[in-house]
Amino acid sequence: MRYVLGIDLGTSSLKGIVMNQNGQVVAEKSSDYSLSSPQSGFSEQNPADWIAACDQVLTELVATFPSLKENLAGISFSGQMHSLVVLGEEKQPIYPAILWNDVRTSKQCQEIMANFGEELLQITKNIALEGFTLPKILWLQENEPEGWGKVRHLMLPKDYLSFYFTDQLVTDYSDAAGTLLLDAEKRQWSREILEQFKIDSTILPKLVAATDQVGVMKSSLTEKFGFTQQVKIFAGGADNACGALGAGLINEDAALISIGTSGVFSSFEKNIQDYQGKLHFFNHVIPNSYYSMGVTLAAGNSLSWFKDSFAKEESFSELLKDIGEIPAGSEGLLFAPYIVGERTPHFDSQIRGSFIGIDTRHQRDHFARAVLEGITFSLKDSQLLMEETKNKAFKEMISVGGGAKNPEWLQMQADIFNAKIKSLVVEQGPGAGACMIAAIGCGWGELSEIVTTFVNYQERVFFPNEEKVAKYAEVYTIWQKIYQATKDISSSLLQLS
Ligand code: XUL
Repeated sequence: MRYVLGIDLGTSSLKGIVMNQNGQVVAEKSSDYSLSSPQSGFSEQNPADWIAACDQVLTELVATFPSLKENLAGISFSGQMHSLVVLGEEKQPIYPAILWNDVRTSKQCQEIMANFGEELLQITKNIALEGFTLPKILWLQENEPEGWGKVRHLMLPKDYLSFYFTDQLVTDYSDAAGTLLLDAEKRQWSREILEQFKIDSTILPKLVAATDQVGVMKSSLTEKFGFTQQVKIFAGGADNACGALGAGLINEDAALISIGTSGVFSSFEKNIQDYQGKLHFFNHVIPNSYYSMGVTLAAGNSLSWFKDSFAKEESFSELLKDIGEIPAGSEGLLFAPYIVGERTPHFDSQIRGSFIGIDTRHQRDHFARAVLEGITFSLKDSQLLMEETKNKAFKEMISVGGGAKNPEWLQMQADIFNAKIKSLVVEQGPGAGACMIAAIGCGWGELSEIVTTFVNYQERVFFPNEEKVAKYAEVYTIWQKIYQATKDISSSLLQLS
């Protein structure tokens, strides 16, 4: 039996998953690293920590599953998007990686949008947001001009891993799309953007497809980990693209709901769509295709905040065990999950969360249910943006992450999204997508064959209940008014505090 390894370079840890040719997970390991915030709004990591975590994961995987030494056919990657890694003359990082959740770049975003917004949207299909790479580059140019002058290579986090394994400097289209430097349609670095922002094209990595082979693991590393055969290294892709592939979302009929700390509603796109920047739109790891996504910044985070604040000693399942007793709409109690601001559709860092309609009859279970409903309504905002532009309704959705762990929440998703909801038998997130990229790269099958072999859905699916669909449609119409109604209050309160 042959194996592939998918490495997911996340924000808090690096996870390695080994899958066999039947698409079964045979080993997995992870290693944590820290995130530093030297100033308010800053979020940084040291690329050397990613390499140390990668070494540890590989060493442990080989120790627990020695057959890898002869039978590991290939490795690929999934990585946190947008985070900026810069190398100097010696190909060493010369500045900490500035992460996707770093928000120091508001000024740069405003300037980009004021002077070049229309062009940027036309070329990249996205607007400038604090998290994306281009504003980080401009921040470095302005605030660290001497350091910026020493930059010789620029890349994304997962590319630093493929560089470690092969000495090659490449990135794939899905990660390149998140930099705001890629012409989405032409699939090349945009000359207009590079000229506008004085970025020398020679510092950019070569563009390749996710499944392209970057090289083979260099001999010093095969020796170090004890591999006795050549291990092929494939470029891999952005975590959201790999997550969609890992969940089997490879056509336009379905959508993906992924609830982690943040929540993502995404769909596969065969053609360029014009969402006018209201949704993110990125090139995919699947050749010649794209995906669109809307983000609720605090999805699982809203529920964790609620549990930590009001039910610290209880587990999530204890907290949620009776929410089925509460009717859809939580008897007039609404929650807006804007506790850290919001991305889609409002792009507002000043907005904050709220409970509205509190009445003496409301008990803790009402609040818990209202939190889940509020998170789901906020993802529905993204669903509607996609459906309106595409002029069609999604009939089916795949739910992954926290939202797929609770049957009551899965039923709620079916009722709020008015769609059939499926979930996965084994959830391995973006790392599974990275394994599938390596499997395709190794020639184990075409995309659709690999998806059929690697992705299995639970037999139990959740269908919309007509009565609840109608009830939620009414409640959602009221819920949608919360943003406008609380916008000014939120920003005044923020100024006060
Ligand atoms: C996507 C985004 C995050 C990161 C997390 O735009 O910023 O989902 O990819 O790793």
